[in-house]
Amino acid sequence: MPTVTISGRALHYEERGSGTPLLLLHGFPFSAESYWPQLDAPPKGVRLIVPDHRGFGQSAPVPGVSTMEALADDALALLDALAIPQAVVGGVSMGGYVAIALTRRDPGRVKALLLIDTQASADDEAGKARREQVAKDVEANGVGPLAESMLPKLLSPNTAPEVKARVDAMMRRQSPQAVAAASRGMATRTDGKDILSRFGGPCLVVVGELDVITPVEKAKALAGIVPQAQLAIVPGAGHLPNLEAPRAFEKATGAFLSAL
Ligand code: MLT
Repeated sequence: MPTVTISGRALHYEERGSGTPLLLLHGFPFSAESYWPQLDAPPKGVRLIVPDHRGFGQSAPVPGVSTMEALADDALALLDALAIPQAVVGGVSMGGYVAIALTRRDPGRVKALLLIDTQASADDEAGKARREQVAKDVEANGVGPLAESMLPKLLSPNTAPEVKARVDAMMRRQSPQAVAAASRGMATRTDGKDILSRFGGPCLVVVGELDVITPVEKAKALAGIVPQAQLAIVPGAGHLPNLEAPRAFEKATGAFLSAL
């Protein structure tokens, strides 16, 4: 189980393949496991690195709110520990928020961006209040009720039952404290449009055709912000196209990654 120690606490990560480093950051409320098809068959010519955010999966918790900046700093510390000066940085949904925060923190470390079912906007006041409610509910009742309410929105009706079951089980395994801390962290995130509009590297925006959380319209808006962005729509998939349609996801990202 590979880990690095950051400020005295363990950050777990998975690593596969060799070639161009690709740091993939997971969404909410998941773990590195949410990239299981990519970890099982990493893209050709890619060194895939997938951390568990603080408190999630096998990474140690850290007290306080898990801001997107804090998660980005963890990811940068992981790159430092692995002596990787520059990586393709990608993420699904909350992982995308962290990728944008990392780009703000240290744009020189980002060779290219892979933004999957995510958005650049911050939460509005109602959204922030919902995040606080989620945090309180999870602290009071555990992750089960959140998993139950999220599952139908995360995955398209086409999703294989075994994928649905694994996503559900993965969410239920996460620590309520880590989930609450990340929910509060997402509420504090800043709008990323300014940093993305200045990003000079290649960028691929990927979205599941049937995503109801960050729909195709949001992906088009996101791609419109980044000067070199391309947009890829994964047919028939929802919010987690890398799990729902891994072959189509691979097709959507393959040419972009091999061109880097
Ligand atoms: C995620 O999948 O990471 C979440 O849907 C992000 C969010 O709640 O904004």
